[in-house]
Amino acid sequence: MKRNGLLVSEERNYLVLNVQQAKSIVKDWLAEIQLANVMKLGLPEIDDRYHIWRVPLCAKNGDKIGEVVIDAYSTEIIASKTTKPEILTARLLKQDETKIVQIKQGKKEYSLSNLRNTVGLGDSAQLLEDMPAESVDLIFTSPPYFNARPEYSEYEAYDEYLFKMRQIIRRCHRVLADGRFFVINIAPVLIRRASRNESSRRIAVPFDIHQLFIEEGYDFIDDIIWLKPEGAGWATGRGRRFAADRNPLQYKAVPVTEYILVYRKHSDLLIDWFIRNHPDREAVDDSKIADGYERTNVWKINPSTNSKHPAAFPKELAEKVVQYYSFKGDIVLDPFAGSGTVGNAASGLERRFVLFENNPEYLEIIREEILAWKNVNLKNVMWINCDPVKPIHKQIELFEVEKNGH
Ligand SMILES: C[S@@+](CC[C@H](N)C(=O)[O-])C[C@H]1O[C@@H](n2cnc3c(N)ncnc32)[C@H](O)[C@@H]1O
Repeated sequence: MKRNGLLVSEERNYLVLNVQQAKSIVKDWLAEIQLANVMKLGLPEIDDRYHIWRVPLCAKNGDKIGEVVIDAYSTEIIASKTTKPEILTARLLKQDETKIVQIKQGKKEYSLSNLRNTVGLGDSAQLLEDMPAESVDLIFTSPPYFNARPEYSEYEAYDEYLFKMRQIIRRCHRVLADGRFFVINIAPVLIRRASRNESSRRIAVPFDIHQLFIEEGYDFIDDIIWLKPEGAGWATGRGRRFAADRNPLQYKAVPVTEYILVYRKHSDLLIDWFIRNHPDREAVDDSKIADGYERTNVWKINPSTNSKHPAAFPKELAEKVVQYYSFKGDIVLDPFAGSGTVGNAASGLERRFVLFENNPEYLEIIREEILAWKNVNLKNVMWINCDPVKPIHKQIELFEVEKNGH
């Protein structure tokens, strides 16, 4: 397909430019797994939303029996999306392939995810559907707030909100690796009174969300309290009336905490198994946590002050979660990424990130700020439904700064 006289692959600067190159990569791979002589290739197709080539694999009679997926930027075959050689063999020999899957599961292997740093614009429920199963090692997020006033909320009713949260929690379960953690920052919400004759209402969102996690196959691990300075809750207006009148029954506590709830995808494997069987011993050693870590379930952290996002959490909070619940090199997903604080923390700590955000304005903040994040090779970032940030921008900015002498 050509746009502006250029092939899509040329426009995107892919390394795999055309059908012939895609076929030749697959032929080499088939030769390596000794299936080159028993297989035919279908017509490769480019998918520039995900920056991949899909090459159909067919038996000699022309029946499609699998597919190879190639990373268009790097030429690498994406193993998690490609039909496994043992499955191809079973299909060619018309064997029962479910037996092969069972044998594999009997002896659990530790697999390292090969996802790249990824930023996607859109509804995470949809974007999660396109991710390979068990391809992320940690999820940390803070979900959108439920706000009962329709003018401020995309959810008309609380049930509708919980339904959406369940959908995301369920889809996250599929993409999260066995036995790994889903950490969520959440707090009760205050629904302000609509008139003087009504009272305000508080909804205990964390307790309802907890139920969803349990029903969707996660084990509860910890309830960490994020404690903010005393002044932080005053803006909510809660407790002001009591402070003035001091009548019993009117007492309302000023909220200065939020929950950091920790869940683990249910697994028969003990946590020790993941430490003992991790194939990169250096990454395990390098990920050890230094003195000064949080010893109790109360973490005192100031709220974020300098973000352009109205509900950003502090980077310090994300850094703690990333350090305590992942190894270096792991993939950290935030399905409600906002300004991308999780990506910033993860890349600074030598983890990779997958960030999904449905508001183009907030995604723009990620696109601007990613230039300053550590350890990010912009050429290798996968952008879904949005334009890539080109490294050249950074160079031009640095040049301008130098030229202007500040
Ligand atoms: C509480 S904020 C997250 C803030 C983020 N932790 C930060 O530090 O900037 C929740 C975000 O989820 C986004 N969001 C809401 N529904 C979404 C959906 N279905 N898919 C993707 N993002 C969504 C909102 O636009 C909002 O930016």
